[in-house]
Amino acid sequence: MIRLFVALDFPDDVRDRLAGLAGGVPGARWTDPSNLHLTLRFIGEVPGHTAADIDATLSEIEVPGFDLTLDGVGMYGSNRHARVLWAGVERTEALTHLQSKVESALVRCGLEPEERKFSPHVTLARLKDAPKERIGRFLEERGLFRAGPMRIDHFTLYRSLLGKGGAVYEALREYPLG
Ligand code: 2AM
Repeated sequence: MIRLFVALDFPDDVRDRLAGLAGGVPGARWTDPSNLHLTLRFIGEVPGHTAADIDATLSEIEVPGFDLTLDGVGMYGSNRHARVLWAGVERTEALTHLQSKVESALVRCGLEPEERKFSPHVTLARLKDAPKERIGRFLEERGLFRAGPMRIDHFTLYRSLLGKGGAVYEALREYPLG
């Protein structure tokens, strides 16, 4: 079995800007800069032959390249149980179009449709018992974060390897956008 997801990665300068947001929140496990990405679709564990089908189907997607802008920061979870800090993504028709093409390709491969609404974000940190006021300060101080527009000219099939030190993501294949 192989654990997969489909995502966009970022040019080095944007990655550096995202990595520069880290800090100031005790109890935060910051995403390693090399792991920063925008998930289009989490696939999960599939057998090798399904992975091959997925690769073949994703490579048939024909969508033009587009510009992407990152905008602001936010939090998932409640005030009492903050779980994740993220950077926001400007929602554009082009992004949604690519995401829905990926989704329909995966359904054609026999995967169950994704029930959850697409909520584009870049996970910056996972939180454990982080003090509320420090989270509040982070959100306030980084609220004006913006990066881009950057050209998105490919998307990527990633493998996720779960280890003791956290997940390691390995890019298996890049699919060019027209
Ligand atoms: P997250 O960053 O918001 O947690 C690889 O794990 C990627 O797939 C992450 O970007 C993660 O989003 C996303 N993902 C979505 N659903 C997931 C799930 N059920 N389990 C693990 N990762 C998931």
